[in-house]
Amino acid sequence: MRKICVIGTGYVGLVTGTCFADLGNQVTCLDIAPDKIEKLQRGEMPIYEPGLEELVARNVAGKRLTFTTSYPDAVPGAEFIFIAVGTPSGVDGEADLQYVRMAAESVADVMTNYTIIINKSTVPVGTGDSVAEILRERGKQPGVDFDVVSNPEFLREGSAMFDFQMPDRVVLGSTNRAAAEKVAQLYLPLRCSIMITDLRTAEMIKYASNAFLATRISFINEIATICEKLGADVKEVAAGMGMDKRIGRAFLDAGVGYGGSCFPKDVKALTWMAEINGCHPQMLRAVMEINRDQRRQAVTKLRDLLGTLRGKTIAVWGVAFKPNTDDVRESPALDIVHILQTEGAHIRAYDPVAVENARKISHGIQFCDSAYTAAENADAVVLVTEWNEFKNLDFERVAATMKNKILIDGRNIYDAERMQAFGFTYRGVGRGYGSS
Ligand code: UDX
Repeated sequence: MRKICVIGTGYVGLVTGTCFADLGNQVTCLDIAPDKIEKLQRGEMPIYEPGLEELVARNVAGKRLTFTTSYPDAVPGAEFIFIAVGTPSGVDGEADLQYVRMAAESVADVMTNYTIIINKSTVPVGTGDSVAEILRERGKQPGVDFDVVSNPEFLREGSAMFDFQMPDRVVLGSTNRAAAEKVAQLYLPLRCSIMITDLRTAEMIKYASNAFLATRISFINEIATICEKLGADVKEVAAGMGMDKRIGRAFLDAGVGYGGSCFPKDVKALTWMAEINGCHPQMLRAVMEINRDQRRQAVTKLRDLLGTLRGKTIAVWGVAFKPNTDDVRESPALDIVHILQTEGAHIRAYDPVAVENARKISHGIQFCDSAYTAAENADAVVLVTEWNEFKNLDFERVAATMKNKILIDGRNIYDAERMQAFGFTYRGVGRGYGSS
């Protein structure tokens, strides 16, 4: 049993702290936001993540997991301190490290024993060195030693617990291999592959992995656009490609593009790091450009079918950036809504869990209590987030209440012929000519 402190109780920090507690460690999760900590102390989750509430409750009951806002309470005595705070995009796309710096400074002020500081947040290459610098300069207690380790997370929202407990690999980087090996001990119960490398390489593995996944998505989206001109079906193309073991099927689903708090931010940050170091990341720029255009293509299909969007009512199914999360950051749905609204369309939308978060960063959307009510009297429906509950609706009922039976399938979850049999004018992404 080790004594662990996790700083930051967002998607990464709360899952990491809870899962380490579930492995038998003594974990304190710290956040500077009192409301978040008060909610957690009442057993309420600040985020939607399937299975998290139950795992938190079990480990709080087992007295392995506590929550605090106090560094003096959480840091002294901790052997491992994970920094899992936000690193939002700055104006030029660079990662904003103010919260990482604040966390490192707060730790340095109260550290009383040898501690291993672990960067779990996605941080630009070289941040580990900066954190070490802060700890060296700011350390109040003479003679208190520390090491810094990079341990990037590879958690997908909506399956974060699974991804923590069944990782493809754990990546650890440090200037002191012994420190990385101590952190590796924490992961031994997971019986997974553990890679130990240097600090900067570990930080780069995270960015390169996310940028590659984003590249796969923009690649298949570009192929989808070509399929619409050449009369091929991109879903079949992806299936045929994926049979090649060198390619694999994952992350080849064409659609309205990627969103979330990671891919958009990480590709931008990697591009920024490359550019300020004199590189010309053409591919990364193209990945972002294609991703932006995918959202616009959905609007173009609507405009082509309706003639004009002014005064039309468009139903949007799904506002979360992907299913099984309430996260709406960089959500394709909200980008599409914004374009539709600027062209004068009225929006009715439904999402199983993300409506509250969507309300905070959008305006003028009429949120409905189901996919059916959202579609009532609509001129078109746009499926943007592939929640399971959208896959087998009563489409006769949907068609009967719509003014125009137009269905834009932004995630290719429907069968074109089946939808056309219900009377819909169907448009997918890359599903053949014009994608009808
Ligand atoms: C991602 C990485 O997968 C994870 O390893 C990293 O730690 C954090 O960022 P996440 O952003 O939670 O995880 O979701 P993910 O499932 O990767 O999807 C990201 C976006 O890509 C979503 O908007 C999704 O709709 C989109 N996507 C995914 C596609 O458009 N096509 C695909 O084939 C796969």
